[in-house]
Amino acid sequence: MKALVLAGGRGTRLRPLTNTSAKQLVPVANKPVIFYGLEAIRAAGITDVGIIVGDTGDEVRAAIGDGGRFGIRVTYIPQEAPLGLAHCVLIARDFLGDDDFVMYLGDNFLVGGIQELVSAFRAGDYSAQILLTPVDDPGSYGVAELGRSGQIVGLAEKPDDPASDLAIVGVYMFTAAVHDAVRAIRPSARGELEITDALQWLIDHGHHVHSHLITGYWKDTGRVRDMLECNRIVLESIETSIGGSVDDRTEVTGRVVIEPGAVVEGSVLRGPVVVGADTKIVGSYLGPFTSIGAGCVVEDAEIEYSIVMSDSTVRGVSRIEASLIGRGVEVTPARKAPNTHQLVIGDHSTVRLRG
Ligand code: TTP
Repeated sequence: MKALVLAGGRGTRLRPLTNTSAKQLVPVANKPVIFYGLEAIRAAGITDVGIIVGDTGDEVRAAIGDGGRFGIRVTYIPQEAPLGLAHCVLIARDFLGDDDFVMYLGDNFLVGGIQELVSAFRAGDYSAQILLTPVDDPGSYGVAELGRSGQIVGLAEKPDDPASDLAIVGVYMFTAAVHDAVRAIRPSARGELEITDALQWLIDHGHHVHSHLITGYWKDTGRVRDMLECNRIVLESIETSIGGSVDDRTEVTGRVVIEPGAVVEGSVLRGPVVVGADTKIVGSYLGPFTSIGAGCVVEDAEIEYSIVMSDSTVRGVSRIEASLIGRGVEVTPARKAPNTHQLVIGDHSTVRLRG
């Protein structure tokens, strides 16, 4: 069995971060979200992994390399444009051959791994297996409609009028039968080859597409609020580990990870919190569910329920909450007079100011 991991795409919902970098590399508890998927694939015993890359391919390649550190062998498959999830299968034909495979969306996060799901698929006699989970806003996802006996009767991508609340999770399992499907379908109204259309094609042509309702936690980290929520879930299960230095004027409650080279002085840390390598936290408050990347400076500031990526500075501001701050960012106070905000913000950014 092989794996096909999708790490291209536009990432419009995570702009401006995705203007310059891959959304699959946004850190969750200081680890790129795609790494969790690669680890789950390896844990299921799969070592032959194709990764679809787009405009951000160089950055993805630099982060993952040949896959050796994950115990996998990576083949990169460039996609000329984000032409859809089924298009990814189409261009991976040579890599996949006639093997069964797991297709894993590189920005999806699934707690509990995929080992049992892979075993169930191997043991079953299906052409494809999809995972479903109930969500509050099905219109933002691929949606499945099930019949009385649990069989799939219809599939739709981001429907205006969802037939159920069952979202399709971004981990699919296929036999080689899917290759006929992705060749047969045509682009949707939004110009993409949809995987839901390929699955529907399989069903319409007499193939058994099995659906499996998952009970564990799943997140598509396509939006900022999902990214923060995913960060919260991962931080919920961290164990305290102090690799850096924490002075005796600092008050620590709950579980915190202080990575090597980090320095924390005169601060209040309410875990769960992760502080990246070589980061300096001085005279600040870090509240629950906060991840501060490597090489940052947080001084005289308060941050809670947020992700700050590497090499950023947050100084003299209170309080930052529910925020996703990119790499090399500087957040500092403006001059006292005149009483103004001073902003240098990239395209498609979101800034919410108080007062
Ligand atoms: P999506 O999140 O559905 O698409 P997107 O990345 O274009 O994001 P947005 O809607 O915010 O613009 O894609 C799911 C995953 O699949 C994601 O990791 C990107 C990847 N992908 C590809 O590799 N190639 C593609 O053609 C598409 C559509 C997505």
